[in-house]
Amino acid sequence: MEEADRPSTARMIDFWLGGEDHFPVDVAAARAFEGAYGPCAPLFRELRAFLGRAVRTIAAAGVDGFLVFGAGVPTRGNVHEAAPEATVLYTDVDPVTIRLGQRILAGSDRAGYGYGDATDVGTVDPALLHRFVPGWGRRPVGVVFLGLAAFLDDATLARTLDELYAAAAPGSFLAVDFDGEELAAHPQALAMMGPQFRMRPPAAFGPLLGRWTPTDDGIVPVARWRPDGPPADLPDAFHGGLATKRSG
Ligand SMILES: C[S@@+](CC[C@H](N)C(=O)[O-])C[C@H]1O[C@@H](n2cnc3c(N)ncnc32)[C@H](O)[C@@H]1O
Repeated sequence: MEEADRPSTARMIDFWLGGEDHFPVDVAAARAFEGAYGPCAPLFRELRAFLGRAVRTIAAAGVDGFLVFGAGVPTRGNVHEAAPEATVLYTDVDPVTIRLGQRILAGSDRAGYGYGDATDVGTVDPALLHRFVPGWGRRPVGVVFLGLAAFLDDATLARTLDELYAAAAPGSFLAVDFDGEELAAHPQALAMMGPQFRMRPPAAFGPLLGRWTPTDDGIVPVARWRPDGPPADLPDAFHGGLATKRSG
């Protein structure tokens, strides 16, 4: 099996979720991060549960095609598992994670994995798009943009979300999350996220969505987004929600 010489946040998340699709370098980075911050597994389980609720909400609205950016490892309750009737194209920019994802999904005829830079939807292979997100631009789809906003500066994020809005058909949904300011109190952990990493106060989220309209649930701490039961008592590290491109 292929090894990685650098850790990836996506594969660190797989480790925290109890998955098997990561490398020793990811485990070492995850443990170092926990040494600086504290336990991460409960937070990422909550984030993945939010993904499941958001994706099931989109599927219940009749959407059966999903385009996932910054997808990471396609297991542990990821999109095609939350919406098993749908077709799903996972994309990422990290070559090791892409190859891992392709290996995991090799037997699937409903989900595929390819290169895609979220900041330029034109980088997604049109053949994969056509196969797994049929009618892209003409039929409503679910655009999944989770774990990614924190790695884009405000101008790039706002432009990217606006371009996705323009490209997606009316009736499409955007599932999105933002990192709050939890790491401000943990400077060593914050430094480990690298210079690109952006924390944002909740007031900053709305303007970045541009023309996407949040559902009435709002953009809230993920544990409080349509919780299945009493929300877990966890720090508000991630805020997320659904937004739509209105029909007609
Ligand atoms: C924190 S991980 C999130 C993985 C997954 N979405 C999740 O929530 O478990 C961020 C992922 O975004 C990817 N990424 C970073 N910049 C990107 C970009 N411009 N376009 C697409 N993916 C990007 C990274 O390679 C990484 O796999």
